[in-house]
Amino acid sequence: MSSRSKQTILLVGATGKTGSSIVRALAKQSEKFYVKALVRAASLEKPIVQELKSLGVGFISGDIVEDSQATLENHLKDVDTVIITTVPFQPNQQDKLILAAKNANVKRVVPSDFGPSAPPGAMKYQDSKVVTQEFIKQHNIPYTFIQVGTWANLMFPAPHSAKDSPQIVFYGSGDVKTAYTGLERVGEFVARIISDERTLNKTVQTYDGEATLSEVWAIASKVSGENFDDYTRLSAQEVKAKIGESPLSTTIYEYVRTLFISGDNTVENAVALGALDSRVLYPDYVPLRLEDCAREFYSRFDEVKAY
Ligand SMILES: NC(=O)c1ccc[n+]([C@@H]2O[C@H](COP(=O)([O-])OP(=O)(O)OC[C@H]3O[C@@H](n4cnc5c(N)ncnc54)[C@H](OP(=O)(O)O)[C@@H]3O)[C@@H](O)[C@H]2O)c1
Repeated sequence: MSSRSKQTILLVGATGKTGSSIVRALAKQSEKFYVKALVRAASLEKPIVQELKSLGVGFISGDIVEDSQATLENHLKDVDTVIITTVPFQPNQQDKLILAAKNANVKRVVPSDFGPSAPPGAMKYQDSKVVTQEFIKQHNIPYTFIQVGTWANLMFPAPHSAKDSPQIVFYGSGDVKTAYTGLERVGEFVARIISDERTLNKTVQTYDGEATLSEVWAIASKVSGENFDDYTRLSAQEVKAKIGESPLSTTIYEYVRTLFISGDNTVENAVALGALDSRVLYPDYVPLRLEDCAREFYSRFDEVKAY
């Protein structure tokens, strides 16, 4: 943090799911953070922008792909921490902003990750995020990489009334443990992590817990009162067969394999790969209970559904 009493944050992606979770949490701690959001011009009219403005968030019109590095550098004057929550499908999407942050002497960059723990080669999408992480390290830019496992609400089956939801598939044997964080808790973790010198130049694994899909679907049935036995089941072999069918299918099913089949996404594996364990860092953190998350999911499905 700078000598100023508040940390100034520039967040890219505030209109999105991860970004809005983070902005809401940081804005709640206005004594610690001043938050500016860089948002594409066409998105400045989105309702979420009005909501975040009312929380004291400042807005800048900008685009990390279209704007020049010099323009981005200009937005970063006096910024302590940059947090990026775009979906980095395009390679190098974040590079210009990262170099601008270096030139502007930003004290910490948090690139878009916020995904599961996976070893190299398990997920092409994760590997491409690692390329960005290596780019940051090569340029000696102070960083923190944050992994959150899967969002808790992504594991629940959609209610039968939401026939169009993609969340109607049970993957694998159902007995593979996977780490999860409530999407609404991601911001709370980020507020702690970016205020913490111990996390500088480290990867942090956040989690509310670990559970198998069978455990999650049992809670889902209990809370919703619905029986999900009629939903599609894809075996490990069927998931594997879908990898390589198309670039989109590869991204989706490599993700599914990491979460529910290979057992990559555990806290133990994340720590073995070098991540700091959020529960060791923040022993006072009160984890979200899956039952509570399920209650929220089924009572306000249209608002809290992931997709
Ligand atoms: N752990 C999990 O289960 C999980 C689940 C989903 C995602 N994730 C990860 O979380 C991260 C964020 O994903 P998300 O789903 O939260 O994203 P999202 O909801 O799709 O939001 C993306 C945000 O990036 C902004 N954006 C896109 N391109 C931009 C540009 N060129 N310049 C400035 N802003 C730009 C979008 O703004 P507009 O309003 O202009 O579109 C939007 O605010 C990703 O790394 C993703 O892989 C993790």
